Amino acid sequence: MQAAIRTRDLTKDFAVGFWRKRPYRALDRLSIDVAPGDVFGFLGPNGAGKTTTLKLLMQLIFPSSGEAEILGRPAGDIAVRRRIGYLPENPYFYDHLTAEELLDYYGRLFRIAGGERGRRVSAILDRLGIGAERRLQLRRFSKGMLQRVGLAQALLNDPEVIFLDEPMSGLDPLGRRDVRNLILELRDQGRTIFFSSHILSDAEVLCSRVAILVKGQLAAQGTIADLQAFHVRGWELIVHGVEDSIVQRLRGRARRITRIEGARYAIELGTESRPEQILTELIADGASLVSLNPLRDTLEDLFVRRVAEVGEGARAEGGHARG
Ligand SMILES: Nc1ncnc2c1ncn2[C@@H]1O[C@H](COP(=O)(O)OP(=O)(O)OP(=O)(O)O)[C@@H](O)[C@H]1O
Ligand SMILES: [Mg+2]
Repeated sequence: MQAAIRTRDLTKDFAVGFWRKRPYRALDRLSIDVAPGDVFGFLGPNGAGKTTTLKLLMQLIFPSSGEAEILGRPAGDIAVRRRIGYLPENPYFYDHLTAEELLDYYGRLFRIAGGERGRRVSAILDRLGIGAERRLQLRRFSKGMLQRVGLAQALLNDPEVIFLDEPMSGLDPLGRRDVRNLILELRDQGRTIFFSSHILSDAEVLCSRVAILVKGQLAAQGTIADLQAFHVRGWELIVHGVEDSIVQRLRGRARRITRIEGARYAIELGTESRPEQILTELIADGASLVSLNPLRDTLEDLFVRRVAEVGEGARAEGGHARG
């Protein structure tokens, strides 16, 4: 199957410094494949190179080396650009325009015919929950509303592949939920979504696959399950109906014992202990089981660990090789 998005050794060096320019590698040989229909989370901490990658894919900047393809064509291909949508990190709009005027303007750029354009603009404004504000000048819009205008703009041409740079940024919890539902709806329509974020929980609930970028380098890539599967960090056993003195006998064998309320306890066990054994003992002493769950690494943990590993790697090589 042809990838919807494909990069090979994509690299970007910026020239930094005032008097004496030196190269700074913002993206280092990135190779990723995004399958059609994927919701692909492009994760990384601030400064990792996410926006740089998106700009390279949009041809707003050009690579120092390497290749990028969208829908099987070079990223700069004109025919491809009609089939993609892009929400920039900080969308900037002519703020004397109204939401409707702005979208109409973008619609003209895409050469969508008059009647159809009007219909699409109004449908999309309604879908994004800013239909009532269509005649309001953008300078009166809140940050969250502007983000919705940005999304509307990215979807106007009915794109097959949608690039979103931090789509949830600046949104309150309700707004985040709306955008999340919108992304799932777009996925159900068969579109491919590539979005960047440093908020891992957004990726956890949305993505089929993720890539983690740290300091311009790909630190991990796979399904969320792939990345977490091998990291059972221990167990959480919740029991109730047991006396304190009995639970306290486990002190040496448990990582942590917390009384939740009354005779209900959360007992955290390490990977070295056998939860079945401990549970059997507790039940013999009159406890009942509430739940037993493996404690897995979250994406957050993975992220923090990879950041630390890449940091150590750089120190081991004798400092930052990028000058
Ligand atoms: N035009 C530029 N000139 C010089 N350096 C740049 C330029 N654009 C980006 N950089 C540097 O490249 C690195 C990656 O930046 P980028 O904006 O891609 O990060 P990001 O992952 O999007 O971060 P954030 O989460 O903060 O948006 C940063 O160190 C940044 O300072
Ligand atoms: Mg960015």
